[in-house]
Amino acid sequence: MLNYIINPDCTSALKSYELPKNLGFGEHFAPLMLSAKFKDNAWSSFLVEPFGPISLLPSAKVFHYAQEIFEGLKVYKSPSKEALLFRPEQNAKRFKKSAERLAMPILDEKDFLFSLNLMASLLSDVIPETSGQSLYLRPIMIATDTIMSVRPSTEFLYMVLASPCGDYFSSQDIGVLIERDEIRASSKGLGSSKTGANYAASLHSYKKAKDLGLSQTLWLDSKENKYIEELSGMNFFALINNELHTPLLNDSILEGVTREAIIKISRHLKIKVVERKMDIGELIEQIKDQRCSEAFACGTAAVITPLAFLSDLDEKGRRIDYEFRDKNCPLGSKIKDYLLALQEGRISDEFGWVSKVSL
Ligand SMILES: Cc1ncc(COP(=O)(O)O)c(C=O)c1O
Repeated sequence: MLNYIINPDCTSALKSYELPKNLGFGEHFAPLMLSAKFKDNAWSSFLVEPFGPISLLPSAKVFHYAQEIFEGLKVYKSPSKEALLFRPEQNAKRFKKSAERLAMPILDEKDFLFSLNLMASLLSDVIPETSGQSLYLRPIMIATDTIMSVRPSTEFLYMVLASPCGDYFSSQDIGVLIERDEIRASSKGLGSSKTGANYAASLHSYKKAKDLGLSQTLWLDSKENKYIEELSGMNFFALINNELHTPLLNDSILEGVTREAIIKISRHLKIKVVERKMDIGELIEQIKDQRCSEAFACGTAAVITPLAFLSDLDEKGRRIDYEFRDKNCPLGSKIKDYLLALQEGRISDEFGWVSKVSL
């Protein structure tokens, strides 16, 4: 296990910190951050210090070749004021898998988990207590060697940032652009890794969607351009003939921790779940004849987000909207209530998914 050092300035940084009133998502940062450096094939101790700027040379590889990975998970406060983590070992596994794909060093899963517990316990007073709010943890690893040739870096920086957060979406009516011209991630590429390059590839479509008055992008597969993959930075579900359908995982879809939890919770609630390749043309027909009654996206940040409609473009670039019959998403809301109650320690944890923050 790696050792840790806590900078003495952390005490005053914590004391003078006030939780903002309006949280939003990713807008405010907790007063501490954690880091470790990888050099000469070994990790340093963890250092916890006040949140602030870091210093890197402009030739650091991350700025040129995007060798970087990240994770995202939330710490919740239970009614008895305990700090709770939801399946952090899933994030540890995914971080390791992303590191392997991006030719980065492995941070032992135990060290990764320890760094999260250390931050969550030091920041215990910064975890919002209102239901639906939480402290979002963002572990990252970036390539820091300063040689500009294209090859894997030999030096890296691992960090954990923390952000008190509330709702991810401010609007209720989420309209989604079916993206037929661009691809988020290709087969055998980086899609199943959590790395910045995938998000960079998604931003042009995000802008296009916004310009059309829509909120998000529905991504299709790179080979046939017809099977649903993901919805922006979330996984996708649709209720069709009272069964919950979701795209079967492949190497260009990010395997969501929330997705897997929803599948297991739904089965526990006796809802049939089907994982399969989902053809967008077929789904549009099912929305039109109302066999598909609702759809939602899911992920750590947004938990479960009901979708109001999908949108295609005609040859003149005008929107054709396909509205879901049940825009208020009754089943998705029921699953969300269950999932949140579990994450916030308000119901008994039949799955063994919730762990108390401990050092
Ligand atoms: C591309 C993408 N898909 C799916 C998800 C959902 O994953 P999780 O439920 O683990 O947050 C995320 C968010 O992390 C994501 O960025």
